[in-house]
Amino acid sequence: MIESDMQRCVDRVLLERRSIRAFLSDPVAREDIEQILRCAARAPSGTNTQPWMVHVLRGDSKERLSREILRIHDSPELREQHSEEYPYYPDRWISPFIDRRRKVGWSLYSLLGLTRENKPGMHAQLGRNFTFFDAPVALMFTIDRVMSHGSWLDYGMFLQNIMIAAQARGLGTCAQAAFRPYHRLIAAHLKLPAHETLVCGMALGHADPAAIENTLVTERDELEAFVRFND
Ligand SMILES: Cc1cc2nc3c(=O)[nH]c(=O)nc-3n(C[C@H](O)[C@H](O)[C@H](O)COP(=O)(O)O)c2cc1C
Repeated sequence: MIESDMQRCVDRVLLERRSIRAFLSDPVAREDIEQILRCAARAPSGTNTQPWMVHVLRGDSKERLSREILRIHDSPELREQHSEEYPYYPDRWISPFIDRRRKVGWSLYSLLGLTRENKPGMHAQLGRNFTFFDAPVALMFTIDRVMSHGSWLDYGMFLQNIMIAAQARGLGTCAQAAFRPYHRLIAAHLKLPAHETLVCGMALGHADPAAIENTLVTERDELEAFVRFND
């Protein structure tokens, strides 16, 4: 197979993308955000339904949401009053999924020097999600409740397109399911109509090159573990 420039480019962007969990305060121009979202919206979707809705938060709107969520996150009593609307993770974990989940969690914590005993440290690190790891741009994604499983599949492609288009422009991202317990508060903040529900959030901005957490490179299984050729 002859390698083309486009193939090299696409492979490089796919291989270099990783979740960024510490951002610089450098702003991202609105035109860049718009161009990323315009490209991302070329994602395929069943019968071209385009089930995505994006809410861009910057400046005061982002700060206020972060403050409101952190206030709840830091209070066990308030936290108890919030729960996710849809299960992102299974109720019952089994191998190999639980092993991979633990591996990435402990890899991140150990980079940050957090031990198992350091519950306040882990709580604070989870809390970093709610300031979008200091990214200047926060994206919240919602979907009409009428849409079904297939549209959530389409949504994943849209999200990945955003992350890849951002990466190609030298910008970092982190998809964030951490917001899901706070969907009611987020719905109120975004003034969502009752038929819209939260899918997830995403931080977008310039990665902090000095941050240790941004050096985390996660593992992937070899092809043999997840591919079967049936000839
Ligand atoms: C839909 C989705 C939600 C995620 N939610 C979070 C999150 O809330 N907080 C976080 O730090 N990382 C989150 N991640 C990042 C994953 O942990 C990360 O993608 C995975 O460990 C693989 O690492 P990589 O993205 O660096 O390749 C999420 C990823 C996806 C796709």
